Amino acid sequence: MSRELVIATGNLHKLEEIRAILTLPGLVLVGLSEFSDAPEVVEDRDSFEGNAIKKAEELGAFTGGWTLADDSGLEVDALNGAPGVYSARYAGEPVNTAANNAKLLQALGSRTDRTARFRCVMALCSPEGVVRTVEGRCEGTIAMDESGGGGFGYDPLFIPDGSALTFAQMVPATKNRISHRGRALASAVIAWGALLSRQ
Ligand code: IMP
Repeated sequence: MSRELVIATGNLHKLEEIRAILTLPGLVLVGLSEFSDAPEVVEDRDSFEGNAIKKAEELGAFTGGWTLADDSGLEVDALNGAPGVYSARYAGEPVNTAANNAKLLQALGSRTDRTARFRCVMALCSPEGVVRTVEGRCEGTIAMDESGGGGFGYDPLFIPDGSALTFAQMVPATKNRISHRGRALASAVIAWGALLSRQ
């Protein structure tokens, strides 16, 4: 038996990572780009959880099927948790990764307290509109300079604990094994199983 899950993100990097991580037998992942008229969800909540739930509810109502939304970002302790929910647009509109990374390096300057974490909250919406959230985190530090050409977003600056490499220097499988998104997806699969067993 096959089952479809709509991945409610317009971010192709996230979709690519989720496709690489979520390889369950019989599971068919459908990207939002396959719906030409999907509504644009305004991410105006002040938490990852709030935005993930909003995306899952609005896009779940639109697709009518199992729908998974991801809201994620980087929290830097010395910046009181910034860029946080504003990670994508830290340096303003339109989204500009190079400008975001440059702004982060400038904000930290030569500070030595550079601890940070990636957080990913996933919200799973059932066809009946029941929503469950899960979270994955990855602790690390912000490098002094960018390194590596892989990944996306802040990956060239983020060194996960226990590694000497940034996420952007790792092969995708290594990042996905320890990342906030990989961890959130492992929990999402368990939450999905629990929801299915209620049906
Ligand atoms: P969202 O689409 O509002 O969830 O924005 C997430 C933003 O957080 C992205 O645009 C990136 O700037 C950042 N981000 C989230 N996950 C990652 C990751 O795995 N690597 C690098 N940056 C990430």
